[in-house]
Amino acid sequence: MNSCELFNINRDRKKKQSRIIPMTKYSPLIAAKAVWQLRIRKQPFVLSHAINSRCNMKCSFCEYWKTEGEEMELTDIFKLLDQARAFGILVYNAWTVEPLLREDLPEILAYAKQLGMVTSLITNGLLLEKRIGELKDLDYLSVSVDGTSSYKDIRGISLDRIMPGILKARDMIRNPLLLNCVISGKNLDDIEELITMAKELDVKISFEPLYEFKGIDRDTWENMGIRDTEKYRKTVGRIMEMKKEGYPIINSYTYLEMIRDLRTEFICHANDIILNVTADGTIENCRVHRAPIGHIDDGIANVWKNTRELRKDMAYKCKKCLFSGYVENSLMYNFNLEVAQHYELM
Ligand SMILES: C[S@@+](CC[C@H](N)C(=O)[O-])C[C@H]1O[C@@H](n2cnc3c(N)ncnc32)[C@H](O)[C@@H]1O
Repeated sequence: MNSCELFNINRDRKKKQSRIIPMTKYSPLIAAKAVWQLRIRKQPFVLSHAINSRCNMKCSFCEYWKTEGEEMELTDIFKLLDQARAFGILVYNAWTVEPLLREDLPEILAYAKQLGMVTSLITNGLLLEKRIGELKDLDYLSVSVDGTSSYKDIRGISLDRIMPGILKARDMIRNPLLLNCVISGKNLDDIEELITMAKELDVKISFEPLYEFKGIDRDTWENMGIRDTEKYRKTVGRIMEMKKEGYPIINSYTYLEMIRDLRTEFICHANDIILNVTADGTIENCRVHRAPIGHIDDGIANVWKNTRELRKDMAYKCKKCLFSGYVENSLMYNFNLEVAQHYELM
């Protein structure tokens, strides 16, 4: 039985041709604007926003849902978007905690779009089937899928629960849907099947290794962490082979080599590229250290200007993570040609 049969994947091609939500592609013009904003103006290009502070999955390896707090009102989010756009930011990414739980998400995306921003979000997929029809102003969609048979052990529910939403979203959006897989000690046996499933579904897939946050207990990391490093290395090696064979893996070879060797030698520019704003409007250095550096009420431009040295120092002292968005974008920032050629920015 192949993976499509396994998950009863309906691959009606006619449906796919009539995707109904208009999407914006990253264009050469946007790439040029990114270089101007990042390298000449030395300002961030992406707003990564904790659009809410609650989750409906609460995975053991994730720390973002653990501090439920205040959430910004819609009008405050509009003001944040106005500020961000005035500061030259062109990408709005609703990154945590679970964007589809926010009722007014369509209004927020519409506002960002009307300001000329590219919009994206990542979801656990639980509410996707119900809500995808409302997301006509969403350009790029990622769904977390960390395994096939191991999915239940990792995320607590069967993969069947989110497959209808993935299929519906795939058929409705114009840009390819992205599956994001966190490689852990739990899913090494599933990775090949997951990549095959992505190809059969006609969606893209990206990988990044589990990050062992200090705030999460040791038992979780003993249970989920990458401990069999030889098997892990072979699995990432197989991901690289499958990319060469034409499977829809969006990571660059440079990055895949780095995660295969768990090697973190790169100059991190995450806090040059991405402005991180939490659910209550705090501006944080990055999503890993989560060090507060200001608040949106102080003005994004002021916070940015006043923390230039601090941010540089934090990046310099950091032991580095291997989150794909941070590594691939940092390598692109430094004009790494292989990454520019093989990493598909989504
Ligand atoms: C924090 S979640 C928020 C969006 C949404 N709730 C979801 O589950 O996709 C965003 C991404 O972070 C990843 N993530 C969470 N904890 C992680 C960890 N310890 N190491 C690596 N990635 C992690 C998730 O798997 C997901 O792909």
